[in-house]
Amino acid sequence: MPNIKPVNSEEALRMIAALSKEWEAENSTYGFVADDVPFLRENRCFAAYGEADEIIGYLFGKAEAAKRMRSVVPDDTPYFEVEELYVRPGYRSRGVGRALMAYLEDTLRAEGITHIFLSTATKAYKRILHFYIDELGMEFWSARLFKKL
Ligand SMILES: CC(C)(COP(=O)(O)OP(=O)(O)OC[C@H]1O[C@@H](n2cnc3c(N)ncnc32)[C@H](O)[C@@H]1OP(=O)(O)O)[C@@H](O)C(=O)NCCC(=O)NCCS
Repeated sequence: MPNIKPVNSEEALRMIAALSKEWEAENSTYGFVADDVPFLRENRCFAAYGEADEIIGYLFGKAEAAKRMRSVVPDDTPYFEVEELYVRPGYRSRGVGRALMAYLEDTLRAEGITHIFLSTATKAYKRILHFYIDELGMEFWSARLFKKL
């Protein structure tokens, strides 16, 4: 299993910014633009480390208090918005993404945060919904579709 750790060094943030460039180049997510270090610093970041102690995946986001999300949770419910979750292509489908999310859940539970929310624009939508809903036990809230005429 990968070693998951909270990120608290500038070097790790630079490595995550580099991985986000790989994600942008992959063109697998609508509208995805690579992150810079100042933006990453504003978030809580977690990294998955491989055997050579290199970062092979990351997750980041922010704790918030719910506002106008009453169809799902009452106002002021403490939740964590996952902004990004990424695993390098060569390491996918080995449980790294699941391990990052499990680490986040354990961390948040200990802090009294009761919900995780996220939006996805991943083009492989069936696979990503399988991951979040079937494998991680998340619930579906909404979707936005388009058709070119
Ligand atoms: C989604 C992602 C983080 C999952 O990480 P992972 O380490 O492969 O996850 P796990 O090994 O724990 O789970 C595997 C499942 O993830 C999903 N998955 C794997 N690769 C995927 C891809 N390229 N696109 C979408 N979903 C993918 C599949 O449901 C897969 O199940 P399967 O192996 O039975 O097909 C990873 O595929 C990724 O970084 N994708 C590109 C970035 C992205 O779309 N991030 C999510 C933004 S909301």
